[in-house]
Amino acid sequence: MHPMLTIAVKAARRAGSIINQASRNLDILTVSRKSHSDFVSEVDGAAEEAIIKVLMDAYPTHSILAEESGNRGDAKKSEYQWIIDPLDGTTNFLHGFPKYAVSIALLHRGVLSQAVVYDPVSNELFTASRGRGAYLNDQRIRVSKRGLLADSLIGTGIPFRDLSFLEAYLAMFKDIIPKTAGIRRPGSAALDLAYVAAGRYDGFWEIGLSPWDIAAGCLLILEAGGLVSDLEGNENYLKSGQIVAGNPKIFVQLLQIIAPHLTPQLIAANK
Ligand code: IPD
Ligand code: CA
Ligand code: CA
Repeated sequence: MHPMLTIAVKAARRAGSIINQASRNLDILTVSRKSHSDFVSEVDGAAEEAIIKVLMDAYPTHSILAEESGNRGDAKKSEYQWIIDPLDGTTNFLHGFPKYAVSIALLHRGVLSQAVVYDPVSNELFTASRGRGAYLNDQRIRVSKRGLLADSLIGTGIPFRDLSFLEAYLAMFKDIIPKTAGIRRPGSAALDLAYVAAGRYDGFWEIGLSPWDIAAGCLLILEAGGLVSDLEGNENYLKSGQIVAGNPKIFVQLLQIIAPHLTPQLIAANK
């Protein structure tokens, strides 16, 4: 394993044990609301601190972009930037709904180079290093081989926080539903993308994500032989948070269905 990935895995497991411990006592958690439908608990903060400590002890000069504490270090000066979501799927976690994950990615000169998505409930560890493939625990994973959308299971995220693109999203949803074998919305984008990499879903799309939700999952998919783009088929997904992913055949078909539903506002938000 690449040494930087080893450190990321150590950090993710630390966060996972904090999350697992807290999950046994959900009633006593202090929860606050960042904005409409945006909850955060003390666990998000504690998990993030633990991750940052492991990373900084190993690589004090690297910069960080983390969901709860924001930027640390100078991303322009450092060649390396870690992108961290300490708990992706906080709403699920708070409800005892067992679909959430720790997500850690490393950018090297702006290019995704290491990725970890760790599900502390199932103890599934998804990892990838650029050019070295994607793994679930010790097994190599690949995207699915399904070519027919009608046979495909598609993951998505339904807008719940920022509702500005709800109409456009619902139009895509309505168009995609009858063309697939089914749609799923478990509630953790990082895990959703890991599932595409592992071939559990054949495709995925969502609007309104942040870099920490998707950075690690995107590298997992690319290293598992899948494709990722923004809703227009371009590479701006990390910035815009609009994402389409899948095995190469389903990815193309999803983009085709989505295209007629791209409103000028969605296109503008993708710039
Ligand atoms: C959320 C989850 C969810 C997605 C949201 C994200 P959080 O992350 O990934 O699946 O639909 O847009 O913000 O807030 O639980 O870390
Ligand atoms: Ca998240
Ligand atoms: Ca989070």
